[in-house]
Amino acid sequence: MSGNRTFTMIKPDAVESGYIGAILEKITSAGFTIKAMKLTQMTYRDAATFYEVHKERPFFEELVTFMTRGPIVAAILEKDNAVEDFRTLIGATNPENAAEGTIRKLFAKSVGENAVHGSDSDENAEIESRFHFSGREIF
Ligand code: RTP
Ligand code: MG
Repeated sequence: MSGNRTFTMIKPDAVESGYIGAILEKITSAGFTIKAMKLTQMTYRDAATFYEVHKERPFFEELVTFMTRGPIVAAILEKDNAVEDFRTLIGATNPENAAEGTIRKLFAKSVGENAVHGSDSDENAEIESRFHFSGREIF
């Protein structure tokens, strides 16, 4: 059975462009409840650990450099079928391929600077939430 929580980050490109409010509006209008949220900045080690699955990929250095260049918004979101529904709401990794009305279509600049992260499984949603939040922050 699919779970009811996912984890997201509003990435540095979208924060720099002033899109925090607009993106949160899309998220809550789509029926997600914000269960935890903070503005923070990842260190190189944080980002390298978070995206460890991609460490052999050619874009890994670019990804870590990008994700650490400025603040992000990290949040835990709740909704029925959260992981899948949130991936639908954000759209394809490359905004050129993202469906009309999706967050990446509206706000992403490129395949690398693509505005938002969304967990790809219930297991990763849990791991990623615990990476950014702990103890009483998660309720
Ligand atoms: P995310 O994990 O951030 O939600 O993105 P995703 O599942 O749609 O894509 P994934 O394959 O997990 O890639 C993670 C992030 O790496 C950057 N990327 N750059 N230059 C490139 O070809 C490239 N490919 C991926 C993007 O920031 C992507 O979201
Ligand atoms: Mg991914």
